[in-house]
Amino acid sequence: MRLSGKVAIVTGGASGIGETTARIFVNEGARVVVIADVQDELGNQVATSIGNQRCSYIHCDVSDEDQVINLIQSTVNTYGQVDIMFSNAGIISPTLQSVLELDVSQLDRLLAVNVRGMALCVKHSAQAMVKGRVRGSIVCTGSVGGSEGSTTSTDYTMTKHAVLGLMRAASLQLATHGIRVNSVSPNALATPLTCKLLGGVSEDKAQDFYKSFARLEGVLLTPKHVADAVLFLVSNEAEFITGVDLRVDGGFSHGK
Ligand SMILES: NC(=O)c1ccc[n+]([C@@H]2O[C@H](COP(=O)([O-])OP(=O)(O)OC[C@H]3O[C@@H](n4cnc5c(N)ncnc54)[C@H](O)[C@@H]3O)[C@@H](O)[C@H]2O)c1
Repeated sequence: MRLSGKVAIVTGGASGIGETTARIFVNEGARVVVIADVQDELGNQVATSIGNQRCSYIHCDVSDEDQVINLIQSTVNTYGQVDIMFSNAGIISPTLQSVLELDVSQLDRLLAVNVRGMALCVKHSAQAMVKGRVRGSIVCTGSVGGSEGSTTSTDYTMTKHAVLGLMRAASLQLATHGIRVNSVSPNALATPLTCKLLGGVSEDKAQDFYKSFARLEGVLLTPKHVADAVLFLVSNEAEFITGVDLRVDGGFSHGK
């Protein structure tokens, strides 16, 4: 019960990594997990399947500051405080984005969700933590693409580099309030996001596709691996860890 009594928010919690993390947070004793997403039907289904006593759903487009303010205020009003923010919502362009043929409207959409949205969630959850004198923990979802180049996804790579910049700046600034800020950076894995990207394939097919990305013999990256890394970062076991990007990539990025 590593999160006993904690109030946590998970953005992008209706699906994939966020959904798995919300379930693990509740299993680890979180008092409540608030799932914030734009997929209302799915988000409500996930919250109900976890149990409405311990999990609730709220519509929040993270790229819209008013909606993020509403997410944080309603959480504080209902549950008293915010201890944990897992800022995880993110999108990828539906088509390849080489720099020579960069579609600027797609770039703008990614910047709005992956960068502005991430910054707004860090900003407003941190404000609530400072105001409530909560020594909270914030984790952002980056990507191995946040510290590597890319032959295809220029826009996504740019936004995930920005997530690391945000995490590092915020961790320095919020340390004086006892608030920790870290990120997790997974390699590619099968989730609804990547299934869609691969042309609507099943999760099994997507997992098969990403087999070639695995360096660690005998294990394939799943949302649970990422969620377990997030759990560690938000738990007391990581009490002295801030400003760290924890790669969950089975060593993929080494030796390149
Ligand atoms: N799947 C991968 O291979 C992979 C690898 C590295 C990093 N990531 C990152 O992991 C995070 C989660 O992705 P996932 O793979 O679980 O995908 P997913 O599509 O299953 O989950 C993302 C969730 O974010 C929500 N979302 C999208 N735009 C939103 C918005 N404006 N406001 C609120 N919610 C919004 C979606 O509705 C969805 O429920 C993303 O930040 C993604 O960039 C994924």
